[in-house]
Amino acid sequence: MENEIKILSSIIQRRRSIFPPSYTQEEIPEALIRQVLESANYAPTHKLTQPWRFIVFRNEGKRKLGAELARLYEEETPESQFLQKKYEAIIEKATQSSCVIVLNAQLHPDIIPEWEEIAAFACAVQNMALTAEALKIGAYWSSPGTISQLGDYLKLEKNEKCFGLFYMGFHQEEPRLPKRTPMEEKVRWVND
Ligand SMILES: Cc1cc2nc3c(=O)[nH]c(=O)nc-3n(C[C@H](O)[C@H](O)[C@H](O)COP(=O)(O)O)c2cc1C
Repeated sequence: MENEIKILSSIIQRRRSIFPPSYTQEEIPEALIRQVLESANYAPTHKLTQPWRFIVFRNEGKRKLGAELARLYEEETPESQFLQKKYEAIIEKATQSSCVIVLNAQLHPDIIPEWEEIAAFACAVQNMALTAEALKIGAYWSSPGTISQLGDYLKLEKNEKCFGLFYMGFHQEEPRLPKRTPMEEKVRWVND
């Protein structure tokens, strides 16, 4: 038991966002990607709606997704603000990653409030991030403005919304300390 809490705390505290420029070109085996996805399925979910939905992009699919994200960036950005460097970086992020998982939530507006679905979905993504960390896979949740325009490309269902991209790749980054203010500043205890 003592060992379990040590391992759990260590994974939680060690997890950092690791970005595509730090990824090696080593492919993540499909079995490990499946393990990361499987963990999502154990997130808490009010009324068991299990709103998390994922689309896994690899190989050519991943490159086409990068090109679509870059195209949307160009389309959505006023000419005066458009940066060729950013356009290229969007394409490159997909190339640098071994896999990009698109993070969607299937909302059930007739059953429970949207915020509860998004909360359950975010718990699922955190399970993925912790599993990736335990497998020594780097990952980060990206939420560019263009994801709101991806619906047709992704062929999303009615009431299914995209909330981000989960870039993944092996890496050799040194562990970084988390940037956090003390927890005591965020808790009130009431005893009487
Ligand atoms: C919902 C969500 C969306 C995020 N979107 C972005 C993003 O678009 N770009 C980015 O650089 N980081 C994004 N992040 C990652 C945060 O920047 C990162 O979690 C934060 O800097 C803390 O670092 P850590 O994850 O290493 O603890 C996102 C995180 C969450 C939870």
